[in-house]
Formats: sequence, structure tokens, C-alpha cells
Amino acid sequence: MSEVSKVRSLLADAAERGIRYRESGDQRRVAPTADAVAAVARFIEPLPDKGSDDADVLAMLDEIGSPATVMMSGPRYFGFVIGGSLPVTVATNWLTTAWDQNVGMHEVTPATATLEQVAMDWMIDLFGLPSGTAAAFVTGATVANFTALAAARNRIYSDLGWNVEADGLHGAPPVTIVVSEETHPTVIKSLGLLGFGRNRAIRAPVDSQGRIDISRFPQFDGPCIICTQAGNLNTGSFDPVGEICEIAKSKGAWVHVDGAFGLWAAASPDRKHLCAGFAAADSWATDAHKWLNVPYDSGIAFVRDAGALKSSMAITADYLLTDSEFRNPSDFTPELSRRARGVDVWAALKSLGRQGVAEMIELCCRNARRFADGLSKAGFEVLNDVVLNQVLVSFGDDATNRKIIAEIQEDGTCWCGATLWQQRSAMRISVCNWSTTAEDVDRSLDVIVEIANRH
Ligand SMILES: Cc1ncc(COP(=O)(O)O)c(C=O)c1O
Repeated sequence: MSEVSKVRSLLADAAERGIRYRESGDQRRVAPTADAVAAVARFIEPLPDKGSDDADVLAMLDEIGSPATVMMSGPRYFGFVIGGSLPVTVATNWLTTAWDQNVGMHEVTPATATLEQVAMDWMIDLFGLPSGTAAAFVTGATVANFTALAAARNRIYSDLGWNVEADGLHGAPPVTIVVSEETHPTVIKSLGLLGFGRNRAIRAPVDSQGRIDISRFPQFDGPCIICTQAGNLNTGSFDPVGEICEIAKSKGAWVHVDGAFGLWAAASPDRKHLCAGFAAADSWATDAHKWLNVPYDSGIAFVRDAGALKSSMAITADYLLTDSEFRNPSDFTPELSRRARGVDVWAALKSLGRQGVAEMIELCCRNARRFADGLSKAGFEVLNDVVLNQVLVSFGDDATNRKIIAEIQEDGTCWCGATLWQQRSAMRISVCNWSTTAEDVDRSLDVIVEIANRH
């Protein structure tokens, strides 16, 4: 076989295997069998001296790897907060991988850099963020939080006359950081990475749904960064960001919103009230790999003050084409070289349009409501106000919950995980997948209720 036909046959084989995997999604167990998981040990071997045939490498990956995957892309995976991937985004992701573009600089990768800019402008429009807002396409909300908070650090310190990028934090004036008691651990990690320390933030008290309780918001003076949340990972609740912005603005504080999944509520006419006042914040982080349903990994940081983001991220070197009339993607991200992940975002938004995004968000919220109603009707306690896509249910004490959750996972019809909500053990159901139907919810409910009733 010629080299060209070998490549054609390899890529066609990969596509065929990928298609088979996706087609089997609805029939497969969500959690893999113990045998399939045990078989991954076959990957573990010393580095081979001699190479293998490419077709055999692919076959090995599929034959051992595919059965051992958790069906996260399928309609009945409700663990953590994990989206699926819209078929169009898988297709465009494959093509983009074939392009193998390094999207660091516009001049050398005009197609992908332009698509990212279009995707960025569309999201700014969709979320109702201020015009002129800058964005960075990063791996996920963790790095989006980090990136946005790096911009916050730049702005706060340059206002104080301190060049934090040049001189670091040794001897720098102190800055107050306020986070909520329910802040996601990745915000805390980002604060650590930025030199603010993981333990130095003031914790704002929250209410029964995990929202910052504005009546008990901490007093602060001087330079300050406030980290808020859109979409609590357990309850789906939203901090009163608009009210916090009013307090912050009177004191010149920077307000950051971690909206890993919750920011997408702003794209739905029926949920956008949850994001009222959010446009007054200074920075926002979100994921596209959660609720926009694009393949991993994909997150976005948005920063109102484009100059602050650029100053904290841009690098210069003689060999780099940084002096450009175009938007250079790497001026805004921690990475220089990276994949063109914005293309997946563009494809999802182009395929769905404004209405399609709103319908996808609403579908997930309706399905979460259906879960909550079904569980309540069956006599189980739903612990949260179901305002979005998250449902917390308790079947009894911690030991009972754990046994029931293990049996649900073992059954394979659906997958839900354990959590702890305000000292109470619970099972968490997160509905983020574009393909989940009411029938998937009912099928899952039947299994959950049947197992729970046995205990
Ligand atoms: C509120 C919130 N922030 C941040 C993250 C971190 O996101 P990622 O895992 O995409 O980095 C998550 C993940 O679930 C989240 O729910």
C-alpha cells in the first residue's frame, strides 16, 4: 500500500471506530464492566524497542480502551458537571485535529484565529457582556479562573503603581481577596498559583442554597478582588452578583464571576434572570466543554479590561510575530502554543444559533426538574431548590446513600455520583448533555427508585 493510501485507510478506520462508539452510546452500560476496566492493564508494558503498525496501535486503543470508557458522552451520564459533545463539534474537532494548527499567532494561522475571534464575539453577545471585553480560550474553567484573576491582579496592582508581572508579590502592598464559603476549589487553587495564597481569602457566608448572603457580606477597605459564582456545583444556585457589584464599584474592587456552567443560563430567555447584573462584573470564567457540549478541553476567560488581560499574559520575543494588526490569541492566554479549541465553540454556536443554545439549556433544566419531581413523588427528599440543571437527593443516612449510589452505578443504566451538601450526604444529578431526553430521565428514575426502595 502506498503511504497516501495507508494514511487514508488509517484515518477512515479511526472515523469508523469513532462512529461505532458514538452509535453504541444509547445501548451501552454507562459505567464499564469490571472486566473491561481490568483489561486496561494490557496497556501497561515497558517502552517497546520496536514500533508497531499504525493500524494495530489504533485497533489496540479501540479494543481495550473503548470498552473501559465511562459513557460520558451519552444521554444518561449525570455525574459531576460534565457535558457531552454535539456531533457537529466532534466532526469539526476531527477536521481541526487534521489541520494541526498552532493557534498562538494570527499571521500563521488565520483561519483558526479568525474563528476564535468570531466565537468570542458571539459569546460576548450571547452572555450580554460589555462590548470591548477580551477573551482567552483555555483548557477549562480552572485555567479560565486563573487567567481572569491574573488580569485582576494586574489591574489592582497597576492602580497601586506596582508592576506585579515584573516585580512579583514580594514586598507588594496587600490586597484583600473575598470568596464565598462555597467557592469552587479551582478558584482557591488559582489564588495560590497567583501568589495570593490558598488560605488568605476572606470567606463570605452563604445561605441554604449556597448563595453569598448579601446581608452578611464582609466589610473590606482598600484594594480588593471579590470572587463570585454563577452555578453552585451542588445546587446550581447563583450569587447575587449584581448587588455585590454595587458594593464593589463604590470601593473600586474587582468582581470575578466563576460561571463554569451557570453563565450559560444567560443564553436562555427563561433563565437569564439568574444572571441579572452580571454584566457589571469585571471578569467571567466559563467552560464550553460542560454546557455548550463541545469536546474536552475547552474553557473561556472573559475580561472587561482587555489591557489588563493582555498585560498579564502577553509575551514578546524577537522571533514571535507579536506586533500584529490582528488579535494574536496567545496575547490573552497562559499558553503560547495550543490547539485551536475555539473552532469547536464556533461550530457549536454556528450549528445551534442563539435559539438552539437557549433550547439546549432549557431542555437540560426541564429534565432536571423532571428528575426532582419524580424523586419527590417517589417519597425521597430533594435537598435543593432546582433552579437550573442540578438536583440533590437524599435517600437516608450517609451509609444508605453510598450503598444506593454504588448499586445505581453498578446497574449501568445511568451514572450519578455522591456529594456532601452542607454536612448532608446526598446523590447529585447534573443534567448537561444535549442528547438527554425525557425518556432517558424516566428510564433512569425507574432504576434509581427501584434500587432506593430496596434499602
Ligand atoms: C463552578 C465551577 N468552577 C470551576 C470548575 C472547574 O472546571 P474545569 O474542571 O473545567 O477546569 C467547575 C467544575 O465542575 C465548576 O463547577
